Formats: sequence, structure tokens, C-alpha cells
Amino acid sequence: MKKTKIIKLKETDSTNSYLKNYTPDKAEDMTVVVADYQSAGRGQGKNTWESEPGKNLLFSILVHPVCVPVNRQFLLSMAGAVALKHALDKYDGGFMMKWPNDIYWQDKKISGTLIETTIARHHIQNCIFGIGIDVNQTEFPDTVPNPVSLCQITGKEVSLKHLLKEVVEAFQDVLEMIEDGDYTDIAALYHQSLYYGKGFHRFEDENGVFEAGIVEVEDDGHLVLHDREGVIREYAVKEVKFL
Ligand code: BTN
Repeated sequence: MKKTKIIKLKETDSTNSYLKNYTPDKAEDMTVVVADYQSAGRGQGKNTWESEPGKNLLFSILVHPVCVPVNRQFLLSMAGAVALKHALDKYDGGFMMKWPNDIYWQDKKISGTLIETTIARHHIQNCIFGIGIDVNQTEFPDTVPNPVSLCQITGKEVSLKHLLKEVVEAFQDVLEMIEDGDYTDIAALYHQSLYYGKGFHRFEDENGVFEAGIVEVEDDGHLVLHDREGVIREYAVKEVKFL
């Protein structure tokens, strides 16, 4: 069983930033920090992450996956998405992972993850999974593209405490899988529930819009597509958009 410490905050700038400046006890395998409100929540790239105070889950998980080879670090993204889906599956059956690590319900985003790693002496010393899950918020600013919250899906208010417990347990399980070297199983679970994983869909890259199917997500995190002409196209994060 992973030794886990949970820190609860009323407010912070960003739970990821909080953990970047945090020194865990030696015996602590996993540190979780959860906040009711973030004054400067960060999303992927240059994005911000906004949330009504006390309505959603805003938390970060710090782990030390030194056994994962640096060139396999996308496995951590897959594992995080697998853990989140596993916890959310208890509420509804329709959750999918959208490459690289968003969680979607139907065509809407319920959760995003910002992963930040520290590499030293050729090992991943620290990995912070910063996760936002829309839980009880029902109105979103127009600037948020296609949001959905768990209470909109289930039709009732959801206990943040209960959901956090389920997510933390799911992370403990996937971390054990990582330590046991079950990389193939994690990648299989990720691919099984991949959004746009079956059939042809519309994508857009720097050359325009095209239709393609997903072949796979490679170990290094690249997305491999095959277009209608049978041409294989390979993308890094942010090089291709799902339409
Ligand atoms: C994304 O989809 O762009 C990733 C969003 C990640 C947001 C979470 S909220 C908790 C943690 N703290 C942050 O500042 N960001 C992550």
C-alpha cells in the first residue's frame, strides 16, 4: 500500500506550483494537495484553468517513479488517464481518454491534466499530475470550449471528498502497476478507451483539415493516424487538432 499524505487548502495559486516547492518526507510515496480555489490555475501550454470556488476537484499528485525510463515517460500520462477513467467509471459508463490525457464524456471535456516532471541523474525523480475535474459546476464561461461536469452527467450533486478518495485509490493502483512493470497493460487500457479510437474522424494540422483514423499512440506519446489515402501521419502534442 502506497504511503499517501493528503494536504487540503482553502486557496492557493496552483496546486502544481505548491507541490513544486514542497519537500516530502522520505517515507511518503504519494503526496496529494487539493484546493477549494486556485487564483492562478494552470492548464497545458499557455492556458489557464478556471473553476468556481468549492465546486470542482482541483488537485495535484506528486509521485517519484524513478523506475520509469525517461524515454517512456508518456506511460505516466497514460497511467494518469487510466486512473481517472477508472474512478469516473463508477458514476457513468461513457468516459474516454482523449489524447494525450484529457477525459471526455461524449464530445465534452470533464477533466484535464497538466503533468510536470523533474529529471535528475537520468531518472524521473518527481512527477506532478495536476488534475482538474469539473464536478458540481453547471455554468461555464463561453471561453471554455466544450465543458461538462459530473453532476450534469449524473443529474445530481457529487461529493468531492468521495470522488477524491476514489481517484487517489485508482492512482495508487496504477502506480503499483508501474512498479510491477505492467507497462503493456497500462498502454492496452489506454488504447481500449481512446476517444476517436474507432473509425474515421476529422482532424486539422498545419496543412488543413483531413479525415483519418487513429492507428496508435506510440510509447513516446506521438499520435499515429492513417488518412483516407492510406498515408501514415505522426504528430506530437499540439501539432494536430481533433475537430
Ligand atoms: C489542461 O487541460 O489544460 C490541464 C488542466 C490542469 C488543471 C489542473 S487544476 C489542478 C492543477 N493545478 C493547476 O494549476 N493545474 C492543474
